[in-house]
Amino acid sequence: MKLIELAENIFFCGEKDKDRTMFDQLIPLPEGTTYNSYFIKGSQKSALIDTIYPPKIHLLLDKLEEAGIKEIDYIVSNHAEQDHSGAIPALVAKYPNAKIVTNERAKENIKSMLHIDEDKFIVIQDEDTLSLGNKTLQFILAPFVHWPDTMFTYLQEDKFLFTCDFYGAHYTTGDIWADYSENLLLAAKRYYAEIMMPFRTFASKYNQKIKELSPKMILPSHGPVYKNPSFILQAYEDWTSDKVKNKVVIPYVSMYESTKMMVDYLTQKLEDADIEVVLWDLIEGDMGELVMETVDAATLVIGVSMVLSGPHPSAVYCTYLLNALRPKIKFFSIVGSYGWGGNLTKILESLLSIIKPEKLDFVIIKGKPKGDDFLQLDALANQIIEKHKIINL
Ligand code: FEO
Repeated sequence: MKLIELAENIFFCGEKDKDRTMFDQLIPLPEGTTYNSYFIKGSQKSALIDTIYPPKIHLLLDKLEEAGIKEIDYIVSNHAEQDHSGAIPALVAKYPNAKIVTNERAKENIKSMLHIDEDKFIVIQDEDTLSLGNKTLQFILAPFVHWPDTMFTYLQEDKFLFTCDFYGAHYTTGDIWADYSENLLLAAKRYYAEIMMPFRTFASKYNQKIKELSPKMILPSHGPVYKNPSFILQAYEDWTSDKVKNKVVIPYVSMYESTKMMVDYLTQKLEDADIEVVLWDLIEGDMGELVMETVDAATLVIGVSMVLSGPHPSAVYCTYLLNALRPKIKFFSIVGSYGWGGNLTKILESLLSIIKPEKLDFVIIKGKPKGDDFLQLDALANQIIEKHKIINL
């Protein structure tokens, strides 16, 4: 099998995984993902940049074998999470002279997760270089983009930047090259929301640093390779900025249509005021898409029914997850209906302790909405409209 040559002596040896349906057992993968690994052949030494998810190890080993690669001098691990590091033990067994090149934090993570001996590592510091002969690798530490151990590898002569998870996408359409389509942009945004949004400040800082570096090519370890980096650099500049859109996201769960009537009514009022509304069914919808919609939304309104004496568990899960992923939501409200009693708001409110959006009025009613209930929803709609006039849209 021939490896795909991206440029002279720089090869792609990753794999698509279209059958994988969940990532981290958390986020649905509607079209699977890819694990990108790259082989660089210098005039004196060779290096493999990142490896592959453990269930796919045999595919990487077969690919290297069939390509006639007898020696690998360096295995560069940009990040210890096992979708990229998982094949290291098998590679070290097959290529016993190979050294694992990484930073101190990643080394410790790899040692604990994969039980690799200390003497197999070469530990680098920020901006250190490693010569392959006619090609030079430079390492850029990028902690918290997204793990503390994250780093990038820059191939100086070619100006190629290997960014591991940064700028990734769970996108398996087409070949290895970015197609710059709207679908790719959405996949990259969805990926950003799930993986990078909790670290927005760091992502913003390193996006700016990479813009200044001006690489000719960006080669992530998930999704396509960007020959035109400005596509993804500009997208990250938008997503990581403090700006929000004139947009309200309304995830809802409704057991007997009362809460649904409320969120439908609110949606209409907001749309009549030219506010974009994303109304999201928490039972039928894909949580990954919902999270993506929060990347640039100004306001979150949770629509919820009562189960026994508290909020429906799907609304609890959604609120917990959004708080963990830290969208730049500015305002939030809760609307919902109950049958005979309980508290719909206390738990949900407590779950937004990290992102702390400004609390707007809540509209909680008994039974099916009627006269005055709609007036309360009118008031909430007006409050949102007024808030959106004064924020940095
Ligand atoms: Fe693709 Fe953080 O692993």
